[in-house]
Amino acid sequence: MDERLRGKALMIVGAGTGIGAATARRLVGEGARVVLADINVDAARAVAAELGAAATALPIDIADETSVNSAIAQAVDWLGGLDGIHVNAADLRTIFADSDALSLDLAVFDRTIDVNLRGHLLCTRAALPHLLARGGGAVVYTTSGASHSAEPQRPSYAMSKSGLNALMRHVASRWGREGVRANCVAPGFVMTPEMIAGGQVPDQLITAFLARTPSTRVGRAEDIAGVVAMLLSNDGTWINGQVIHVNGGGLMPA
Ligand SMILES: NC(=O)c1ccc[n+]([C@@H]2O[C@H](COP(=O)([O-])OP(=O)(O)OC[C@H]3O[C@@H](n4cnc5c(N)ncnc54)[C@H](O)[C@@H]3O)[C@@H](O)[C@H]2O)c1
Repeated sequence: MDERLRGKALMIVGAGTGIGAATARRLVGEGARVVLADINVDAARAVAAELGAAATALPIDIADETSVNSAIAQAVDWLGGLDGIHVNAADLRTIFADSDALSLDLAVFDRTIDVNLRGHLLCTRAALPHLLARGGGAVVYTTSGASHSAEPQRPSYAMSKSGLNALMRHVASRWGREGVRANCVAPGFVMTPEMIAGGQVPDQLITAFLARTPSTRVGRAEDIAGVVAMLLSNDGTWINGQVIHVNGGGLMPA
């Protein structure tokens, strides 16, 4: 594999499973040293163990400021600095109760915003000084097609991801001249290995998705990982403040 990330010190927040785990494999495959942080530290440790000396795992709960500050400080110690961070974590358990604006339990809304939006702000605040100390670096957030599309369900999730796009544009515009690039990758319907193994995604959902897209398949975690790697690499040097949709054409925002 191309070694365009050789020498880069990178961190992924939400790296234990799914898109984050695939991204860790891709970044190490391209030559980076990577810290995998996750609330599910056992899963992150298992992926790091597979990747050898170029990777390590740490616990983090992005809903908790002390935990975020401590994990990012430990990551920077291990890496000897920070060139880029992929903030990818989301609490996807709340999505099933994220019904509609009239009926949803506000505890579901609060938890979704705490992790998917406030948690990303906390990671940004902890990581930015380290990027600036290196003369700049890259931030990639995982948002969602839901931040642009209209859906009758999942309002909290969509609001959290639209807010994340706004946070990303703020970071890009505030620190761009100091060498910081911030971008979002917005996946469409991605079947992660855990979703496939869990067998809980109804076939009708997949069929309905395929019926309304020009793609002949749903997404794979690796489809997203490749774009994150590009954004963190020097190939992404002139990409700043963008939401990059990776969805097989399932959504084509203007
Ligand atoms: N899979 C899809 O179809 C899809 C589509 C659009 C966007 N996304 C986004 O992609 C990202 C990754 O999702 P995924 O599908 O790989 O799911 P996933 O559940 O496998 O990954 C999310 C990771 O975040 C971690 N996490 C959850 N709460 C946390 C917390 N408080 N602190 C730290 N880590 C925490 C989980 O343990 C998990 O490892 C999410 O931001 C999700 O919203 C996924």
